[in-house]
Amino acid sequence: MRIGAIWAQANDRAMGKDGTIPWYLPEDMRLFRQITTGSPVIMGRSTWESLPERMRPLPNRTNIVLTRAEDYDAPGALLAHSIDEALAAAAYCEADFCWVIGGAQIYQAFLDTCDLAVVTHIDLEVSGADTFAPVLPTGWQPLCSDTLTSEKGLTYQVCGYLNPCSSLSEDHIRQLLP
Ligand SMILES: NC(=O)c1ccc[n+]([C@@H]2O[C@H](COP(=O)([O-])OP(=O)(O)OC[C@H]3O[C@@H](n4cnc5c(N)ncnc54)[C@H](OP(=O)(O)O)[C@@H]3O)[C@@H](O)[C@H]2O)c1
Repeated sequence: MRIGAIWAQANDRAMGKDGTIPWYLPEDMRLFRQITTGSPVIMGRSTWESLPERMRPLPNRTNIVLTRAEDYDAPGALLAHSIDEALAAAAYCEADFCWVIGGAQIYQAFLDTCDLAVVTHIDLEVSGADTFAPVLPTGWQPLCSDTLTSEKGLTYQVCGYLNPCSSLSEDHIRQLLP
């Protein structure tokens, strides 16, 4: 099973504010849905709670929620209490890919085990951001889309970063980009 991380970040790596994502970019939501549908997704308890109730669990994906709390309940999702437990639950799905979908703590914890990261870079200043994307390790080579303009006017670019230790090819990344 390959492991990918997928996130969106604004300028200065801002990715969250007050428990939510501080922008609305429908094209990125569509890309997220397209890439992750059919695969298990791993997220932290805070990200699970940030999803609107009507959207959780994320449909057509095994949702795996990481928490250290033994008595936490996430209806419709599987709980995991460690990285290894989350990966074992994902492997059980026998999908080609598992996607790490946030938030910052979880990206940081999983990044070294990821084959790639799909990152949407949004040209936006977020004042008061309190959650930040991880810094990608050196040597992760980016392959990027053109700069795109959203129907809402935001400009953004999607880049796939390949872990040099992964046997995945650049072609695989190219297929994921818009
Ligand atoms: N821009 C994006 O693409 C994007 C994507 C996802 C999320 N976000 C944003 O990011 C923010 C949330 O991120 P966050 O970093 O605050 O929280 P998070 O990573 O979603 O969740 C953190 C929680 O995960 C659990 N956890 C972390 N490491 C663990 C481990 N090794 N073993 C077991 N459990 C572990 C803990 O839960 P317990 O406290 O229950 O033990 C911890 O409090 C929100 O604002 C959200 O909207 C943005």
